[in-house]
Amino acid sequence: MKANLPLDADRLWSDVMALADITDPARPYTRRSFTALFLEGRELLVKRFAEAGLTTHIDTAGNLIGRLDGTNPALGVIALGSHSDTVPSGGRFDGIAGVATGLEVVRALRDAGIRLAHSIEVVDFLAEEPSEYGLSCVGSRGMVGLLDGKMLELTEPGGEKLRDALRRVGGDPDRLDTARRDDIRAFLELHIEQGIVLESQSIDLGIVTSIVGIRRIEVIFDGAADHAGTTPLGLRHDALVAAARTVASVRDVAEQLAAETSGYFVATVGILNVEPNASNVVPGRCRLVIDVRTTHLATTARFVEIIDRASTEHAVAAKVTRAALTTLSEGSPVTCDPVLRDALHQGAQSLGLSATDLASGAGHDAAFMSRICPSAMIFVPCRNGKSHAPEEWSDRDEIAAGAAVMLQALKALDRSLARPATSSDETK
Ligand code: GLV
Ligand code: MN
Ligand code: MN
Repeated sequence: MKANLPLDADRLWSDVMALADITDPARPYTRRSFTALFLEGRELLVKRFAEAGLTTHIDTAGNLIGRLDGTNPALGVIALGSHSDTVPSGGRFDGIAGVATGLEVVRALRDAGIRLAHSIEVVDFLAEEPSEYGLSCVGSRGMVGLLDGKMLELTEPGGEKLRDALRRVGGDPDRLDTARRDDIRAFLELHIEQGIVLESQSIDLGIVTSIVGIRRIEVIFDGAADHAGTTPLGLRHDALVAAARTVASVRDVAEQLAAETSGYFVATVGILNVEPNASNVVPGRCRLVIDVRTTHLATTARFVEIIDRASTEHAVAAKVTRAALTTLSEGSPVTCDPVLRDALHQGAQSLGLSATDLASGAGHDAAFMSRICPSAMIFVPCRNGKSHAPEEWSDRDEIAAGAAVMLQALKALDRSLARPATSSDETK
């Protein structure tokens, strides 16, 4: 157990566990964005935000925001947060740990009788995980002005448009311009590592250096649904054969490019829809979604070029057609802010905690926030590196240690960002 942390580790843990309890019982731990369970989770957050003395509202991009005015609100806002939605059968910590940390940091300040000069906002960003509408980071895109009209037209399998879903959870798709912020001076996000570096090296914390850019590409093959018993093999137009060969190409090409690049590169097919998906019918249509992540955009461009060619060849060989590749979403890789990273390192040092620099292969709201303000992230260890799975786990004291570092960094940044920049600061 980490001694003498300047916050209440049990209180923080109880928030994480209370949110974990709000799950689809048949698929722990599932609290998908836009669902009744998601709204139930938010109700709990609203209650806890209010108890902590935060004024709460939902912005037009659907983000839940709790605010505590600073003694000098003209200085602007320092924001803390993450997301409360989960992937299907996901975990109890991904995103949730960051929202609960923001809340606990505010309570710890209040308990210590400290009022900061900057206003503080705790944000639960809407739908960080890929939603049923095919889009991730809906709220953070909105906060930085990147949620566009085309995205609002995206539709979930039941037919609801993202535009209508946004309204349903308290946003306003017709006034998204008001969600765009220019008063946030810094954004800090705590997250579980979702990898094994910290645990395997017994390091308390990771300070994130960069976050991968993610591109999601849709590929659709159209063939012909036919009787699986009577249609001779040579006369089939089997869309799944082309899709399966494309899945294999994605893996082969990703391995080749990952070996060649000096940066980070992975690609995955995580969605494969087969129609009609019946054991005795030749698949007539297949849709797959490729998730490509990189620190070098040129590698993604090369990957797309190769997969475009390979999937066309697979379509020809299977006697099916392939529609043009569609980019569903695209984000650039980002570098975390050096001043904020330094504050996090100093915070760790002041508490006697070990910390190391780490790159993030997962996407985060901080990647979008970095477009409007300096942003940085702190990673806490998670058991066996497991995430996006029910076994996901992080210890109470590991999260508390990360939260305490965030609190230290916040206090330091409140002081340093309040000072007018000197010429030597500007050249740093
Ligand atoms: C977010 O969880 C991601 O897909 O990296
Ligand atoms: Mn996630
Ligand atoms: Mn997350």
